[in-house]
Amino acid sequence: MPVPVIIDCDPGHDDALALVLAAGDPAVDLLAITTVAGNQTVDKTTLNARRICTVAGITGVPVAAGCARPLVQPLLVADDVHGESGLDGPAFGEPTVHAVPQHAVDVMHRVLTEHPEPVTLVPTGPLTNVALLLTRHPDSAAHIREIVLMGGSTGRGNRTPAAEFNIHVDPEAAHTVFTSGLPVTMCGLNVTHQALVTPEVLARLERLDTRLSRICAELMTYFASTYRRLWGFAAPPLHDPVAVARVIDPEIVRCVDANVVVELHGQYTRGATVTDLHQYLDRPVNAQVAVELDTERFWDRVVAAVDALGGRAS
Ligand code: BDR
Ligand code: CA
Repeated sequence: MPVPVIIDCDPGHDDALALVLAAGDPAVDLLAITTVAGNQTVDKTTLNARRICTVAGITGVPVAAGCARPLVQPLLVADDVHGESGLDGPAFGEPTVHAVPQHAVDVMHRVLTEHPEPVTLVPTGPLTNVALLLTRHPDSAAHIREIVLMGGSTGRGNRTPAAEFNIHVDPEAAHTVFTSGLPVTMCGLNVTHQALVTPEVLARLERLDTRLSRICAELMTYFASTYRRLWGFAAPPLHDPVAVARVIDPEIVRCVDANVVVELHGQYTRGATVTDLHQYLDRPVNAQVAVELDTERFWDRVVAAVDALGGRAS
């Protein structure tokens, strides 16, 4: 049976591919797409989710806009990585998929409580919506099977020396999630930096030769240019689909149990996900932490999903 999933995202080049993977893989039943401010403002991330749904033929899945700013601090966007639109690169037409008029948090709550089985949440942006869901609708917890998120790192950050972007944008929200008592899986930079969009991966996408594969290739080409310019990466890491892949097949992403604390007060380390892989602090396990990616199986599923959704070239 496919796993029922809600994706909470901030598209974002890698979020876009996460949506395609979730919608195109038969192991996932995508129930809703909710958006949050992160890579860009929530107006832009919602427009981008609608654009991706339109080009990928994802219809019948509610798209709902959520929080415009983090719980406590002002919003920081990643326009240096994702551009002014949040999804720079391809030319998108006017999207034909529209957002529903309800707030993302209320849509999540409705979908969770109406679905006959517990649902997996896959957040791929700052955790503002998820934290608000857990505090505004505490009955949601009983309907959440697990939270499999992209964010954090067992080691260093990518926005400060210590903090990864999604956690850095809203550390208080991340703290709420990691202390919720729900099963949480953290797919952080230490594992997503194994998902590199190499020229060979790009060539596989291009060979599909569909409208969607061409758009994905253009997105990845733009993403590669910013990762090269900002961090000197030879190939960019496709962070967000790693969390979806963990839901699709847990064997693609190997995890270990650990205690994870979100640092809220450190003068230089706010937003760090302090991951105690060796039980130094003798604190209880509160997360499964992704440590290793089966890259071959990962890319096979991503390419297959793009192929499954893409209309043939005309
Ligand atoms: C995360 O930050 C965003 O820019 C990406 O979409 C990803 O979710 C990686 O740090
Ligand atoms: Ca993201």
